[in-house]
Amino acid sequence: MTRALVTGAAGFIGSTLVGRLLEETDWEVVGVDALTDYYDPMTKRANVAGFDTSRFELLEGDLAAMDVGPIVHGADVVFHLAGQPGVRGSWGTQFGTYLHHNVLATQRLLEAAATSPRLRAFVFSSSSSVYGDALTYPTSETDPTAPKSPYGVTKLAAEHLCSLYAANHGVPTRSLRFFTVYGPRQRPDMAFHRFISAALEGEPVEVYGDGRQVREFTYVDDIASAMLLAAGEGVAAGSVINLSGGSSVSVLEVIHELERALDRRIDIRHLAPALGDVIRTGGSTERARDQLGWVPQVDLVEGLAREVAWARGARTP
Ligand code: UGA
Repeated sequence: MTRALVTGAAGFIGSTLVGRLLEETDWEVVGVDALTDYYDPMTKRANVAGFDTSRFELLEGDLAAMDVGPIVHGADVVFHLAGQPGVRGSWGTQFGTYLHHNVLATQRLLEAAATSPRLRAFVFSSSSSVYGDALTYPTSETDPTAPKSPYGVTKLAAEHLCSLYAANHGVPTRSLRFFTVYGPRQRPDMAFHRFISAALEGEPVEVYGDGRQVREFTYVDDIASAMLLAAGEGVAAGSVINLSGGSSVSVLEVIHELERALDRRIDIRHLAPALGDVIRTGGSTERARDQLGWVPQVDLVEGLAREVAWARGARTP
């Protein structure tokens, strides 16, 4: 029986991946999650509440503080999604939290993976934020990395650790650079979630800066599909691969699309630009296509409609 370890299993992307693993494979899945209070831990518990417990078990724990040896050694595939997310909150006193959950936790897992008797893939969730304000678009994996936020620095450090453990210990790592992921269960601090909630309440949405910043938004199920493909054995250890969803639009365009989806006008309140926010992201998907056979399937109109439907459902008492 194949066994997967999913770190951050109760989060937005982690719980989506667990659902897909339970639906599409016959694998056993062990999830681990620190259930931190970055947002309401009840939301995270609800994300995993419906899963079949005969094949899924959730362990509560901090990867940087617990003994991860047994859970890593018991896994054929590790999907490492746990981490302290959020670009804009990573300055100042919060940085220690980012170091702990993004760098130290990853190193602890990789140390255990280095002595695993059975691990065949270690799939790490990296981030488009490693590029900072890129020099060229679509940005490819060989372009320079220059994070613009402390968060991006920690994700890049973790990615380097993955490559290092691949080269020195043969750990079968694959670092996937996610480009702004959205869809059902999205974290409450993220743009789509905040915009949809405000719009459904009839309140103005808050936009950092002029709203002309562009993101290549990626639908969460496309990310889960790519992670499943990355667990395959044909992918080279130490690989770094962009996962960019094909919808490159500005924040203002997202709001206009949301107006169309909800058939109502949305007022905008502009706030100061957020420190660490890049002007634009946009990734080349050539490598993902060549190495994983991955092409994103869900475009922004469809993906936004699905997130709106989820948000409406979540509001229904
Ligand atoms: C997201 C995730 O939060 C990171 O964890 C991830 O690593 C990163 O994507 C990535 O692609 O690497 P971000 O792009 O900032 O980061 O995602 P959103 O929170 O959805 O923000 C998108 C844009 O909307 C940003 O320019 C942000 O400033 C803006 N925004 C966000 C607003 O104008 N108002 C809001 O209320 C929220």
